[in-house]
Amino acid sequence: MKNCTQTQLIHAPRKAPQYISTVQPPLFRASTIIFENTNALFDRHWTDPYDYSYGTHGTPTTFTLGDNIAQIEGGDFCLLAPSGLSAINLVNSCFLKHGDEVWVADNIYGPNMEHLNNLQDRYGIEVKVYNSIDINTFTPTKKASLLWLEAAGSVTLEFPNLIALVKKAKELQILTVLDNTWGAGLAFNAFDFSSEHLSVDITVHALTKYPSGGGDILMGSIVTKNKEFYHKLFRMHAIQGIAVSGDDVAQIQRSLSSMKLRYEHQSKSTLTLLEWLKEQKEFVQVLHPADSESAGHKYWKDICKEGHSAGLVSVIFDSKYSLSDIRKFCDALTLFKLGFSWGGPVSLVMLYNLKDMRVLNHPHLKQGLLVRFCIGLEEPQDLINDIKHALKLLE
Ligand SMILES: Cc1ncc(COP(=O)(O)O)c(C=O)c1O
Repeated sequence: MKNCTQTQLIHAPRKAPQYISTVQPPLFRASTIIFENTNALFDRHWTDPYDYSYGTHGTPTTFTLGDNIAQIEGGDFCLLAPSGLSAINLVNSCFLKHGDEVWVADNIYGPNMEHLNNLQDRYGIEVKVYNSIDINTFTPTKKASLLWLEAAGSVTLEFPNLIALVKKAKELQILTVLDNTWGAGLAFNAFDFSSEHLSVDITVHALTKYPSGGGDILMGSIVTKNKEFYHKLFRMHAIQGIAVSGDDVAQIQRSLSSMKLRYEHQSKSTLTLLEWLKEQKEFVQVLHPADSESAGHKYWKDICKEGHSAGLVSVIFDSKYSLSDIRKFCDALTLFKLGFSWGGPVSLVMLYNLKDMRVLNHPHLKQGLLVRFCIGLEEPQDLINDIKHALKLLE
């Protein structure tokens, strides 16, 4: 029976062959997934990662990237979310309930803290802030259910004593969740980071940074080794309708092959910048965990055994420089672009006023305005020349 042209346009005669092998995995774009027959429809089970039923629950494309990310980070299961922040929010909404106490480092990624404060106001979840480099400030009560960790912390880049914090949380059966964006699964293994085989329970990762590497795609992941946590997260992921675009997933999958090379290259370039920045009189402090004077350096050294770190370095300007001086400096940079995020090819700069960002006192941080540099893939000497030129305007 011959179909009409309109129907032929929809039901094309050629089907993609199953045997073809390509360097990159095939891309599946799907809201609807077609069942072969009613048996396939009724026999499927949501816990089977090879049973596909609807786009929001995943396709071979999303599971391929998820398995890859889980493997890189040392976990077993992975879920994808449309951004790093949405991955964070999924964990919070899945594991926190009314009356719980959640512990969060003062230097955690800012919007995570904002999200938690929002939950506190609306759902009676108590947010407690600890100093990531002082374990004595982590004093959970019986209501504590979740501990957020970040290594190194956002903007000021202190490296926490992960071993002590995770041990203490585990003794009290508190869920440990690490924002693993900085380490990207490359600087250290969050699922086996000490000689005692300590592991966090869950990681989240802004794939927007190194896995994407292009500064153009947003995505987040949640990884665990624990099947029960995974199933809980999977259900929440499904009922919240969290989904990612197959095209975006394919782009990130494509970038993964160069991620380790980029990470290590950016790590090395940042160390070159670090040494130079430390010599400049305009800065009273340079913050980077590989620097022996930075807070938590010892813990970084213990855990990041190969000496790698993300391409981030912050400087605190002498307090004699005003906000308008710092703005002038940032505006004068040409290679460093003014923008949020990191992990892309282009170096970025962002200015922060620490006074507006921290709840606790941090005597290890000097007074002055802070500028964070995210080191891209440019030649380090060109980046140094760019900063040198901008600093001249402050003379
Ligand atoms: C440490 C950290 N975690 C999470 C995120 C959020 O990622 P996204 O921008 O994909 O929402 C960011 C973004 O800057 C980040 O720096």
